[in-house]
Amino acid sequence: MSEREVLLDVQELSVDFRVDRKTTLRAVREGSFQVYKGETLGILGESGCGKSVTCMSILRLEPEKTTRYPSGRILFGNQDLLTLATKELGKIRGNEIGMIFQEPMTAMNPLFTIGDQMMEVLRIHHPHMEKGDAYEQCIRMIENVKIPNPQRIMKSYPFSLSGGMLQRIMIGMAMLNRPKLLICDEPTTALDVTIQAQVLDLMNQLKREQEMSIIFVTHDLGVISEMADRVMVMYGGRKCEEALATSLFQEPLHPYTQGLIRSHPQPGEKRERLEVIPGSVPALKDMPAGCPFHNRCPYASDECKETFPVYEEALPDHWVACHHWRKAASHG
Ligand SMILES: Nc1ncnc2c1ncn2[C@@H]1O[C@H](COP(=O)(O)OP(=O)(O)OP(=O)(O)O)[C@@H](O)[C@H]1O
Ligand SMILES: [Mg+2]
Repeated sequence: MSEREVLLDVQELSVDFRVDRKTTLRAVREGSFQVYKGETLGILGESGCGKSVTCMSILRLEPEKTTRYPSGRILFGNQDLLTLATKELGKIRGNEIGMIFQEPMTAMNPLFTIGDQMMEVLRIHHPHMEKGDAYEQCIRMIENVKIPNPQRIMKSYPFSLSGGMLQRIMIGMAMLNRPKLLICDEPTTALDVTIQAQVLDLMNQLKREQEMSIIFVTHDLGVISEMADRVMVMYGGRKCEEALATSLFQEPLHPYTQGLIRSHPQPGEKRERLEVIPGSVPALKDMPAGCPFHNRCPYASDECKETFPVYEEALPDHWVACHHWRKAASHG
């Protein structure tokens, strides 16, 4: 394989939330990962594993007053986004790095037309752009996301569009400035299956055309296998496994990843009852010591209750943090 070029390099990122005067909780622990140029990195994990906190932290979108970053660097080009001045970071947000959230409505202002909001996204980063040019670019982007009658859409208010259309507008908006990286946090979870498939296709097509990288967060295995080149699995605010998507799905090594795959129906498979992972993701205040998965894990030993396992390259380019991955792999 040719040398891959790193676009985003997250090193040892930890994120703390202050919940009251005495209590600080750690939502992400020493997370390190890279996003390479032109790839889609999928982040997989159940609710509460730290996927959104990781994504929001990349652009420092967590509430400033209560969020602390006790360790880490987030290198984008030669800049560390964690320490970059707010004004400089503002030039990157929505420009070189775009972001799409699960709920399109929350990211739109109900009082302004779609056109006003799209044009604003362009002109905020290109203050000298002619209004006519901005208008043309918005029209083209609405066409790109396959919404008919773009002139009418430009004059519409968000409430007059369906959820599917709004989500496509959001994707178009996030791509207006041709970002190098698009962060997508469950962008299609609220959509029905047909629209979801269309939106995912569209994102893949735009990714190829614009040669961008994507971070794609989801708890849906079907979606991630469709979108991701590489996958990082998170549990309890930690990365527990990371590999090329093919390797991860063929040979999951972490008992948590194995559990996620077993609890997801395979295409064409008719199983009366899917196995589910017993228990649930602990709240931050109840996070156990050692490996956070140990109290749900069939292979757990005393060691797992005490120390977090070292991250190992178990197979080529396939990393896992588990004291018992060998045993799990032979059973999995
Ligand atoms: N601002 C905050 N203050 C305190 N705790 C928070 C805050 N934001 C998130 N958390 C907690 O951090 C943990 C990780 O949350 P996160 O939103 O990253 O989960 P997630 O993996 O994105 O889950 P989901 O699939 O439900 O979106 C959760 O326990 C959550 O309750
Ligand atoms: Mg989330």
